[in-house]
Amino acid sequence: MSIQIFQGDSIKYMKNILTESVDLIIADPPYNLGKDYGNNNDQRTHDEYIEFSKQWIKEAHRILKGTGSIYIFMGVRFISYLYTILEQEYNFIFNSWITWHYTQGLGKTKGFSPRHDDILFFNKS
Ligand SMILES: C[S@@+](CC[C@H](N)C(=O)[O-])C[C@H]1O[C@@H](n2cnc3c(N)ncnc32)[C@H](O)[C@@H]1O
Repeated sequence: MSIQIFQGDSIKYMKNILTESVDLIIADPPYNLGKDYGNNNDQRTHDEYIEFSKQWIKEAHRILKGTGSIYIFMGVRFISYLYTILEQEYNFIFNSWITWHYTQGLGKTKGFSPRHDDILFFNKS
């Protein structure tokens, strides 16, 4: 088995992938929390972020095989919107909402410190 790694804009890259040719997608997109990834792309307005999400989910849906699955790591601010896009706009079938509990991480001075990430697991059909 050979493994290839491509670096670049995932939306542009997916446009070159054949329709219904992929078994599994694991996506860890930016959460739009204003983090500095060096490309200034984690500070979109609400509408811009939803549009960005729809663009890559559209391509992901196109390239996945009918038997394919998608896992998406997502932060709490936008996870409900992504759930709705997946289910209502693309008819993905909900499989599981996975909670990854961890113990490390910075403490917040106000409120509760996050100690988990959420991962959506959907099947295409
Ligand atoms: C939540 S972080 C994921 C970090 C990654 N899991 C890691 O361990 O390094 C989101 C990453 O997506 C990248 N990113 C943002 N827009 C992208 C796009 N259109 N195509 C590919 N990567 C993108 C960001 O630069 C950032 O590195």
